[in-house]
Amino acid sequence: MTRTVRIDVGAGYDVTVGPGLLDTCGGALAPLCRGGSAFVVSDSTVAPLYLAQVRRSLEEAGLRVSSFVFPAGEKSKTLATLGHMLEAMAEAGLTRSDLAVALGGGVTGDMTGFAAGVYQRGISYVQLPTTVLAAVDSSVGGKTAVDLRAGKNMAGVFIQPAAVLCDTDTFATLPEKWFRDGLAESIKYGILTDRELFFRFDGLDRSEMPELIARCVAIKGEYVHRDPLDCWDRRYLNLGHTMAHAMEKLSGYTLAHGHAVAMGTVMAARYGERLGLTEAGTTEEICRIYSKNGLPVSCPYDAGALARAASMDKKRTGGDVTVVLIETIGRCFLKKMPVSELYELARLGLEG
Ligand code: NAD
Ligand code: GLY
Repeated sequence: MTRTVRIDVGAGYDVTVGPGLLDTCGGALAPLCRGGSAFVVSDSTVAPLYLAQVRRSLEEAGLRVSSFVFPAGEKSKTLATLGHMLEAMAEAGLTRSDLAVALGGGVTGDMTGFAAGVYQRGISYVQLPTTVLAAVDSSVGGKTAVDLRAGKNMAGVFIQPAAVLCDTDTFATLPEKWFRDGLAESIKYGILTDRELFFRFDGLDRSEMPELIARCVAIKGEYVHRDPLDCWDRRYLNLGHTMAHAMEKLSGYTLAHGHAVAMGTVMAARYGERLGLTEAGTTEEICRIYSKNGLPVSCPYDAGALARAASMDKKRTGGDVTVVLIETIGRCFLKKMPVSELYELARLGLEG
């Protein structure tokens, strides 16, 4: 069964979630492509699996199709790859009324969105997420980016997609590590605002993923609607991310984002409990659900290293950072703190 969630930002767009959507994507996307040319971006793992299927459907819908494939992985999320992508768009003769199509995970989506945002000062793009993380998070909301030497996602633009089609059949080929990685962000939405959703991950039935993804997307859509440019309310989506970003940095970006978010969320819960701000027992419950879904809950770095790395966070405002803390599962709050408090957050957030 297919579910559609409307994202109410700018002109608005639909996120459609369900099986079999790649086979029929041409019919859905052709009306969004007045110029008649689609430019499909994918990575070297996803392209052999799904590019031919997408190309066939787009061509059957009457579109001319060109494509760009880059080596899979975060290491490709660079200005250099973006440059090659933009040159390929120009060589394909793409015009402002054509359509860029991101087929893959968050790396593909973030770079395709960025390229669409700057190519000829902006063309439309759509997201076809093939990872759980991209489905519940990166394909929705219009944040795009590449990494710089100074850190992850340091250059980018806000540009909302014209549509998102999440074909849940693609998860059949997704390695288990990446499947679980996306569960971390999915569980996060439950901790933020939806206690019942959180407990759906206690003994997850994977056949229910389309429904759960749609629920996560609807929650994200509310935050994006209220705060499209990430100035206040959208910061809630960063639950667990202050320490997660520090861990990713300390790992040299070998640690997967969702795995880091799981550990960072546990730290936020434990810090809150130790200060009496978070309901007793919350940390234990979050650890239980993350562990049950194969996610790590113990951070391997020490408080000093974490605090130093976290203090460089790009979301810092002057000498302050805003972190998300948990009141109880299903309700969170924002807490502004001086950068110097990050050491306490790390120290109290770690076990022992
Ligand atoms: P990814 O795009 O690198 O995908 C993970 C791996 O899975 C890759 O090796 C990819 O080739 C492979 N893969 C993808 N789909 C597959 C499938 N169906 N079958 C087999 N293999 C498949 O990583 P990701 O975890 O999807 O996304 C992480 C990126 O997303 C990071 O760069 C992060 O910064 C970004 N992100 C962006 C936002 C946002 O709001 N824009 C939010 C969260 C994360
Ligand atoms: N991934 C967080 C956001 O989109 O704001």
